[in-house]
Formats: sequence, C-alpha cells, structure tokens
Amino acid sequence: MATIALVGNKGGAGKTTLSVNLASGLNRHDSTLVLDADPQRSVLQWRAMGEDPGLDVVDAVDDLPDAVAAHRDSFRHLVIDCPPSVEAPQTLTALRLVDVALIPVQPSPLDIWATVHIEREVEVAREQNPGLRALLVINQLEPRTRLSRMMRQALAELSIPAAETAVRRRMAFRMSVLEGRSVFDFGSRGSDAGAEIQQLIEEVMAL
Ligand SMILES: Nc1ncnc2c1ncn2[C@@H]1O[C@H](COP(=O)(O)OP(=O)(O)O)[C@@H](O)[C@H]1O
Ligand SMILES: [Mg+2]
Repeated sequence: MATIALVGNKGGAGKTTLSVNLASGLNRHDSTLVLDADPQRSVLQWRAMGEDPGLDVVDAVDDLPDAVAAHRDSFRHLVIDCPPSVEAPQTLTALRLVDVALIPVQPSPLDIWATVHIEREVEVAREQNPGLRALLVINQLEPRTRLSRMMRQALAELSIPAAETAVRRRMAFRMSVLEGRSVFDFGSRGSDAGAEIQQLIEEVMAL
C-alpha cells in the first residue's frame, strides 16, 4: 500500500500528467485510485475525455481526508493530484496524510526557486507525519542541454532529494493528457514514456 501525492508550487510542472500516468502504471498490477484534489479538477476532466481509461478517479477537492479514509482499504495505492500551491489546503492536507510526496520540477531556475517553499512545508508536515518521504522529479527534461546538466547540480543543494529517474519531454505524455489515456495505451509509441514511468514507480516503491 502506498499513498502518493503530486505536489508543487507552480502550475505546469507536470503534477497532473505524472498523477495519471503513475497511477495508470501502478494500476496495471495493483488496484489504484486517483483522488483529484485540485479545484481545477484536471484528472476528472482527463477521465471524462477519452474512452474509459480503466482507472478509477474520485473528486476529493472538498473532503480529502474523508476520501482517503473511505478508499484506503479498497485500493492498494492512492495517488493524489494536488493544486499548484503549497499553501492550498488540499496540499497541506495531502502532506499530512501520504507516505510519499512527489514534486515535479521543470529544468528551469524558476521551478527550482519555487521548491523552497515546499521544503519548508514538508518539514512542517513531518511534525505530524514523521514518515513522510519526499522526492523531486525532474520533468520535461530535454537531455544533452546545458540547462539539464546544471539542473542536477542545482537540485543537489536542496534538502529534498531528486529521483534518479528523470521524465523527458515527450509527445506521448502530452497526448495522454489530451486524449484521456495513459502512455501505456499508446503501444510502441508510448513505450519509452512507459519505461520511464515504470522506473519512477520502482524508485518510489523502494523509498
Ligand atoms: N514529460 C512531459 N512531456 C511533454 N509534455 C508534458 C510533460 N509533462 C507535462 N507536460 C505538459 O505540460 C503541461 C502542464 O502539465 P500538467 O501535468 O498539467 O502540470 P500541472 O498539473 O503541474 O499544472 C501539459 O500540457 C502537459 O501535457
Ligand atoms: Mg494539474
């Protein structure tokens, strides 16, 4: 059993993209539920967009603790998609409830600076949730750029470790969100993206 929240202090970092794809990857082997805790309800929109993606999603915007309590015994894993602010009540609640907080960051100084607030909130949340593990996940990486090399160094300065697995900028991720599917539904066109997600899942499960 793992409860995983995708959190951050910026929109566009990849919380929703990683929520639906991580949950879809987990759901291939173990029953997994996504709790949409972002008032924008992007995961619910994703779920309504395509054909049935075979992944359960519930609206947990207004009652996240109740939703977690109601579903934690029925699913092996819960994935919570949070709003783009660490001050949002849903994010603060999630940090107090989950086993793992994943913080997607784009290879950009603006994204790195935005994580400073998260370090603080993770520390505060640990007073009530001492087992909370947190991991930065580089998302939308474009390998072989100078920026992406500098990114690792910059992240090493932060108190929250960065995942070994970086998620590259790939069309399959973009299409998955647009089409209400996961990268695992794209056959060979999604295989590199799927392999990255699977590697990230293994890293998270080994934390
Ligand atoms: N690894 C990726 N490769 C390509 N596009 C991505 C990737 N991650 C996110 N995106 C795109 O970036 C945009 C913002 O991502 P999203 O998951 O909505 O961020 P957030 O939920 O943090 O606001 C979306 O258009 C999404 O398709
Ligand atoms: Mg989102």
